[in-house]
Amino acid sequence: MARHVVLLLSGPNLNLLGTREPEIYGTDTLLDHVRAARRAATELGWDLEHRQSNHEGDLVDAVHSGIGRVGAIVVNPGALTHYGWSLHDALAAFDGPVVELHLSEPRERESWRRLSVVEPLASARVAGDGGAGYPRAVALAIEAAAAAAETPDPGDEASDPS
Ligand code: DQA
Repeated sequence: MARHVVLLLSGPNLNLLGTREPEIYGTDTLLDHVRAARRAATELGWDLEHRQSNHEGDLVDAVHSGIGRVGAIVVNPGALTHYGWSLHDALAAFDGPVVELHLSEPRERESWRRLSVVEPLASARVAGDGGAGYPRAVALAIEAAAAAAETPDPGDEASDPS
């Protein structure tokens, strides 16, 4: 199975990056970030697919489409970070590492941004680095997927000595 693919997911309002609250999110567009993320994946020999949606169900469907097919997910869920429980459940069903990504540091903003429903199932979290976070998050996701591939699965018969 060709799993050397990172699925990058972008949640609501991230399509407006470049003009949306530039004092918080900067002036780079989502396309700029996706390009930087893809470059990082390519340098490590992986492909990158990107999906942005303003609708939680679309992102849930995108996660489902990645199960058994892509090796890792990097997700900037936008405001769904703080209440998107169906996205949480979809990511919990994903069979690979998940990296949580934010341009800003939500923990240092309004109190309602302190809860992340993604954090409990993320193998890494990248926040507050602006656009530099995209390639970092991709590298961490690929690293986690490579580490998992090297660890024998206890349920795998080949690794069962009995
Ligand atoms: C964000 C932080 C979220 O709190 C916010 O709702 C966003 C963007 C970030 O990238 O900093 O839409 O995920």
